[in-house]
This record gives sequence, C-alpha cells and structure tokens, in this order.
Amino acid sequence: MTKVPSDYRIDPADGLPARVVREWARRKHHYLERYTGIFASGMKKKFPQRAYLDLFAGPGRCFERETGEIYDGSPLIGLHRNFTDHIYVELEDKAAAALETRCSPYTPGRRVTVIQGDCNAKIDEVIAHLPRSGITFAFIDPTNWQISFDTIQKLTAARRVDLLVSFFGPSMKRVADLDRPRLDAFFGTKAWQTDPRFLGPDRLPTLSGLLACYREQLARIGYLNQVSAREIPVKNSKNVPMYLLAFFSKHPLGYTFWDRITTEDEKGQIALTW
Ligand SMILES: C[S@@+](CC[C@H](N)C(=O)[O-])C[C@H]1O[C@@H](n2cnc3c(N)ncnc32)[C@H](O)[C@@H]1O
Repeated sequence: MTKVPSDYRIDPADGLPARVVREWARRKHHYLERYTGIFASGMKKKFPQRAYLDLFAGPGRCFERETGEIYDGSPLIGLHRNFTDHIYVELEDKAAAALETRCSPYTPGRRVTVIQGDCNAKIDEVIAHLPRSGITFAFIDPTNWQISFDTIQKLTAARRVDLLVSFFGPSMKRVADLDRPRLDAFFGTKAWQTDPRFLGPDRLPTLSGLLACYREQLARIGYLNQVSAREIPVKNSKNVPMYLLAFFSKHPLGYTFWDRITTEDEKGQIALTW
C-alpha cells in the first residue's frame, strides 16, 4: 500500500507530535463523537463488551493549520466514550509511539492496544484483540483507499462490526491508470470500472455509483444493502468535496443511530431530511 507521509507539530501540553490537519477535519470528528456516543451508551445493556477499532489512528492529537488549535483526534475521542476495548493501528512509528503514550492514562480501566504497522498486514493481530462476544464499531479513516476489501472481509466475518468509512469517492473518479489495481483491491472487484450501473454517460464512475458498488460488495459479506439517510460530504475551504463519511451496518439499529446523530451538523444546523 502506498504511504502518504504525514506532517506533525509538537503539542506543548505533552511534548508529543500532533498531526497537522485542515479545518474541515472538525466535521468528521463531530460525527465520530456523536456516533461513538450513541453507540457506546445505546449498546451497553445488550453488549457488556463494546470495542472501538480505529485502523488509521494517527497520533491521537490534531494541530489545526488555520488556527494553531490542538485538539483530540479519533482515538482519544473513542477513549472518552463508554467502550471496554480499544484497538488502534497506525503505520507511522512516531505517531504510533505518541498514541501509546497518550493512551496510557486510560489503561487502568480499559483494555487499550496500539499496533504499529499496516492495518492490512496486521488484521489477524487486530482480530485477536477484539472481544469474542461483543460488538465493535470501526472507524476507517485513511488518506485515500489504503484498506483492501479482503481486510474488511476478514475483520467482519461472523462478527457484528459497524463501519464508518472516510470514502474518497471524489478523488477515485480522478485516478490514473496506475492506481486502478489499488482501487480494485479497495472494492474487492473491478466492477466499479466496468459495471454500467456505476458509470455515468461519460462511461466514468459516478460518486453514487462508487458508493453503490462498495455497498453491494459489503452486502455480499452480510451488511444490509441499505442507504443511510445521509452520507456526510466533507468539503475543503473552496467547497470542494474531499470525501464522504459513509456508514454501514449489519443491523437496522446501526442505521437508526446513524440517521439520528446526523440530523445535526458541526455548526448546530439541523438537516432538512430525516
Ligand atoms: C487521516 S489520518 C487519521 C487521522 C485520525 N483518524 C484522526 O481522526 O485523528 C490517516 C492515518 O493513517 C495512517 N496510515 C496510512 N496508511 C496506513 C495503513 N495502511 N495502516 C495503518 N495506518 C495507516 C497515516 O500514517 C495517518 O496517521
């Protein structure tokens, strides 16, 4: 898998690296906070063991380039929620080491595992840390499409795992020929390039076609072929969509939760459709 190097600044609070992000990253963290909140508390009665899995975890803190503000990244957001198990994977050594240190204050009450490496290569190790009888929420937050469908298949086989995916559909539409095999691996099929249902009149894949292809692939491995009330576009400062937050579950309750928490955006605005 291609490595996209990250940029870091030191967080003066702990002397560890924080990942440089743009202001629009707040949007994904808003929806992540809301979903982890409703999931961890809503599932507590039925599932004594609730795991939060973050396959592209980063160092745990974000440095916002526009404002210089430093705030919690996805793995620490998860640690503020009522999960019993946390499994974090991060490719870059210094980010994984920083994350491990940042997690240590939380370890007395919970099981927290930080794995350094490529999440595709480490997936068996990840699975070994998931609670045997329990439920998992997985945040899949790559910088493009560094997770293969094989990995998703292994992770979710005979297990209930809700997935929130940063889906880089807008950039998938622009990939060069050389990157197509990596996208084939992401989708687990070449159909995204060839099936007329996923293509526009110009014979190129459409954003809705790409999502439908991924949803169909997930339906083959036990997910509901259900369209959530909304996929959340994350746009840059020029209003260009960078990626969508797309939700997938094997259970209708997952969609009920997702549809409920996405009614309010990070600015407190209420969505018009239910
Ligand atoms: C978008 S950032 C994650 C940010 C984090 N989820 C957050 O919200 O705070 C993507 C991270 O994935 C890491 N990464 C890239 N490829 C990876 C792979 N194959 N396996 C695990 N981590 C990877 C990068 O080093 C980077 O830290």
